[in-house]
Amino acid sequence: MPEYKSKAYSHIFRIALVLIAAGLIGVAVRAMVLPESFGDYGHYRGSAIEDEINRPIRNGTNSSCLVCHPYIREMHLQGVHNTVSCEFCHGPVADHVQDGKVIARLPKKEGNDIKTLCLRCHNQIIRARPKESIKMISMPQHLEEKHVRIDHNCNQCHNVHAPLMWVKEARAIVGAEEDNK
Ligand code: HEC
Ligand code: HEC
Ligand code: HEC
Ligand code: HEC
Repeated sequence: MPEYKSKAYSHIFRIALVLIAAGLIGVAVRAMVLPESFGDYGHYRGSAIEDEINRPIRNGTNSSCLVCHPYIREMHLQGVHNTVSCEFCHGPVADHVQDGKVIARLPKKEGNDIKTLCLRCHNQIIRARPKESIKMISMPQHLEEKHVRIDHNCNQCHNVHAPLMWVKEARAIVGAEEDNK
């Protein structure tokens, strides 16, 4: 076998030079952009933990609302929505109260927005959820069953804070049995 030896190998040096330069630039850029606390505890920015701790808390529990809204409190606690968070429907307490003082009003949904809000949890279309966890309805079938116009809104029959309150009261007044559907 004849041996081939080329003298034209300068391209190897050029490639090596480019790779070394790229490596050096890489190391330099890394040193420049790497956050100071990287690696303090592991393969992440150590001060991220502090950032998260210092993030202002925006949400509270229902008890953070109930002290100032005794009328709603009474309905809410007795009604079937007692496990539902006030903030789901009204937004975070931080937009409303700070240091015990009311700084702004929380929004309350009106008109068709109420329907949208209720159906976020009660829409039959949500199929992933087991039926027995939250009772579902489909629209406009629910209103057709009740023989009302389909532009009726949920809160005309359901108290939003205690959805079965008025239904039960109405039944008691007319002495009606539960619907057996
Ligand atoms: C420090 C007492 C206080 C706390 C705590 C508080 N509220 Fe209020 N809230 C008020 C007062 C007072 C008003 C009336 C403000 C006004 O009329 O300008 C009000 C108004 C509202 C309104 C608007 C009512 C309307 O008719 O427009 C909503 C909705 C509301 N609060 C919900 C909540 C929810 C939900 C929470 C808990 C996340 C909460 N509030 C916690 C005192 C409080
Ligand atoms: C399922 C959604 C939902 C939940 C949960 C909910 N609300 Fe409401 N809330 C509404 C809607 C919708 C309105 C406005 C329409 C109405 O009052 O019928 C309203 C009205 C209000 C009002 C104005 C009072 C009034 O009679 O107009 C206050 C205050 C309030 N809510 C506070 C609360 C508090 C406090 C909680 C938790 C204990 C809570 N809400 C839980 C949907 C909800
Ligand atoms: C965050 C989710 C959520 C929202 C939003 C919500 N609900 Fe509910 N609702 C529940 C849960 C949880 C229950 C209690 C479980 C059950 O019995 O279905 C319930 C129960 C009910 C019931 C009683 C069902 C029964 O016969 O036991 C009615 C009626 C009802 N809600 C109506 C409404 C109306 C009207 C609205 C809009 C104002 C609304 N819900 C918004 C979660 C929600
Ligand atoms: C015309 C009055 C009326 C209106 C409007 C109305 N409902 Fe009802 N709803 C009722 C009555 C009455 C019942 C309970 C009786 C029953 O068992 O059928 C009921 C029952 C329910 C139930 C429990 C269903 C079950 O399987 O037991 C849910 C959830 C519900 N409504 C949600 C809503 C939502 C969400 C809206 C608005 C999109 C709404 N309703 C509008 C009268 C109404």
